Amino acid sequence: VDAGAVDAGEVTFDEAVGMLLQMLSAGTDTTTSLIGRGARFLAEHDDVQDQLRDDPARIPTFVEEILRVDGPFRFHYRAARHDTELGGVRIPAGARLMLMWAAANLDEVTAPDPARVDLDRTGKKSHFAFGRGIHFCIGAPLARLEARVALEQLLVRTTQIRLDPDHPPRYRPTIFLRRLADLDVLFGTA
Ligand code: HEM
Repeated sequence: VDAGAVDAGEVTFDEAVGMLLQMLSAGTDTTTSLIGRGARFLAEHDDVQDQLRDDPARIPTFVEEILRVDGPFRFHYRAARHDTELGGVRIPAGARLMLMWAAANLDEVTAPDPARVDLDRTGKKSHFAFGRGIHFCIGAPLARLEARVALEQLLVRTTQIRLDPDHPPRYRPTIFLRRLADLDVLFGTA
């Protein structure tokens, strides 16, 4: 949808503003969360920093693993429009469901040894961090690109990153979109 669609009467002005706001809200805190979580993991794992500095082609896999193991969105809601059944559980019309992406991502069925960030994992995009089905995240390619470039630059421009022991990372007090409020790190540069 672009401004021309409003002029052509295909969407109303209010609908266009709504879409724009959704893009802005869905696309900012989420990528910030992912980049922060990736940077924190690197700061806590020298060995992974070294592996990725030696072989930056593995950064996309690292990004997928961070999305899977500790992705930004923990869940989204659904409402059942009809009586139905899911995974052997009867769901009555009108029921509210919580789709726990974070739990699905840490299920053995999604990934064996699920809690481990594994740079050799295959089928790396088969996690649920961007949802599933018709509402699958429209911004996933942009989010992946942003995280890859940000973490690549962080690694290229430093020789070492570690957490500042005097200021431990602090999360925002929310269970919906997990996001660091502070991430103080110490850098080494060449
Ligand atoms: C790491 C970053 C991101 C994560 C983890 C993420 C995650 C998700 C998830 C789980 C959904 C599915 C919601 C549902 O099923 O109810 C979703 C939908 C959506 N995302 Fe993202 N997202 C990210 C980045 C972005 C970006 C950068 C944009 C836009 C520039 C964006 C725009 C949207 C929109 C518009 C939807 C709704 C799609 C629909 O309902 O058809 N997201 N996202």
